[in-house]
Amino acid sequence: MSDNERYVDGLYEADEALERVKTGIEAEGMPSISIAEGYGRLLTLLVRMSGASSVLEIGALGGYSGICLARGMDGKPGGGSLVSLELLQTYADVAARHLAEAGFGGVAKYIVGDAKQSLANLKEQGRRFDFFFIDADKEGYPVYLDYALELANPGAIIVGDNILLRGRTTDDAKQGPAVQAVRSFNERIARDPRLESTILPGYDGLAIARVRG
Ligand code: DHB
Ligand code: MG
Repeated sequence: MSDNERYVDGLYEADEALERVKTGIEAEGMPSISIAEGYGRLLTLLVRMSGASSVLEIGALGGYSGICLARGMDGKPGGGSLVSLELLQTYADVAARHLAEAGFGGVAKYIVGDAKQSLANLKEQGRRFDFFFIDADKEGYPVYLDYALELANPGAIIVGDNILLRGRTTDDAKQGPAVQAVRSFNERIARDPRLESTILPGYDGLAIARVRG
């Protein structure tokens, strides 16, 4: 983390619910790779500012981003819904527990299994969403973007985490499948005429796009 990132994170009071998630993730032996604090706050703001009432998250891990997303819908008339796709049942269980502990037990629904299959099923069911948060296996990002575009309501927001891959994205010597997939994802975020977007290079990078319409 840079000094600037540490400085801005330090301005905020400790967030008990999110601290509990981080502790829980460690206790469960899960990887400590939740979204950066500042981007978690940004997720809440983006959901709130866009007025989204249906959010699709791809990659739940321990529920840190899930809480941030759910917070953005808190108090909405009619409530909001978070559908979260997670490969592992154990992770989905931990995430669901953390969401419930944070007061969002009724908001989140976890779908366990391969996200591509779950996305195909959601498409088949005609489901539509106002907000997408992509934070699963990096090789899958281009396909997840394809599905987000297909499942998007007009004006939907699409956010992708870790688009810098801790320096690998910009390292020409790195040509593995995840790096190539994320480069392709980033280029499409920047240039797809269906999107207006920006890409933030702080922390591990965050892509933010809005589907025109
Ligand atoms: C890493 C971080 C993430 O947020 C993620 O989704 C995947 C991997 C990492 O730092 O390795
Ligand atoms: Mg991530």
